[in-house]
Amino acid sequence: MPHSAIICCSNKLFSNPSSCYKKIHMERSFFVIIPSTNICILNPGNASVYQPGGAAPISSTNKAISNRWRILMPDGTYGTYPAPRALGSSEIQEVVEHYSQAALNAIRAGFDGIEIHGAHGYLIDQFLKDGINDRTDDYGGSIENRCRFLMQVIRAVVSAVGVERVAFRMSPAIDHLDAADSDPLNLGLSVIERINKIQQQVGAKLTYLHVTQPRYTAYGQTESGRPGTEDEEAQMIKTWRRAYEGTFMCSGGFTRELGIQAVAEGDADLVSYGRLFISNPDLVLRLKLDAPLNKYIRKTFYSHDPVIGYTDYPFLCEANAGKAQHSRL
Ligand SMILES: Cc1cc2nc3c(=O)[nH]c(=O)nc-3n(C[C@H](O)[C@H](O)[C@H](O)COP(=O)(O)O)c2cc1C
Repeated sequence: MPHSAIICCSNKLFSNPSSCYKKIHMERSFFVIIPSTNICILNPGNASVYQPGGAAPISSTNKAISNRWRILMPDGTYGTYPAPRALGSSEIQEVVEHYSQAALNAIRAGFDGIEIHGAHGYLIDQFLKDGINDRTDDYGGSIENRCRFLMQVIRAVVSAVGVERVAFRMSPAIDHLDAADSDPLNLGLSVIERINKIQQQVGAKLTYLHVTQPRYTAYGQTESGRPGTEDEEAQMIKTWRRAYEGTFMCSGGFTRELGIQAVAEGDADLVSYGRLFISNPDLVLRLKLDAPLNKYIRKTFYSHDPVIGYTDYPFLCEANAGKAQHSRL
């Protein structure tokens, strides 16, 4: 089986809350696009500010996301997240069904597959992490209980669209939107063991398991407030990778070299790119050629302009033409 990598496109080109992933394959360090598109389905839980009738968003808890995190509002100002309401246990099945309906809708709309989003502090993560989940019912407390909601969602989505169309994304070691866990290594392992079991029961594997790494030192800056070391992170990823019985994808702070290295050393089957994909419209070509990459401009990531930060990054040929013209001046 060829080594493979994936290019991850963040939700810049799609209305929130969805992301699109264009797969590429990497054989002997060559990056190639595969024409396959997955859509990410998620419920933001307490990270939602747009609620019908101004109702409180749902979560595993009544606690609001702390003021450490701010949300960019349409008028360009930063707001705080509203207080959520903890879902009653009798309401949970209905929310699970929203995921399977969303998955069915996506396949009907022509997507090849679904990535269930259980990362980055959204609803599933709000159930998984003991730093947020303060429930005392069957959905809180033990790891078994905190994984219950996720397992219900995976089973429902698998039964709606078929296991071969379903992937899952998690970030046990990331504390985005306050979603921290006291034991990320074990949380990740527990999720993986349960997914392995589902795969054994249905006799087939998910498309892939996608793990976002905190990359404590990626691009010279900290992505997570959680103190950690590169060694600790590398060990965690290796442990999860060994435990998962299927295709393992990593993302978070990957350069071309780190992506090739991760695949070559067996730490990942697939690698996804976010920020570099935004700033390089021809990222695959540049990775293949080992050409210089456009630097991304953080301040235009969420611009409201339809062009700036979206479609104005130059293609390689344009960048080279610009350079040639420049040198004549
Ligand atoms: C502009 C932008 C928007 C993003 N939006 C989301 C989002 O809505 N939900 C999410 O889970 N991740 C989001 N991400 C995170 C990406 O999915 C990805 O995990 C992250 O960029 C790490 O990969 P990278 O280091 O290659 O950029 C976003 C990233 C960027 C740069």
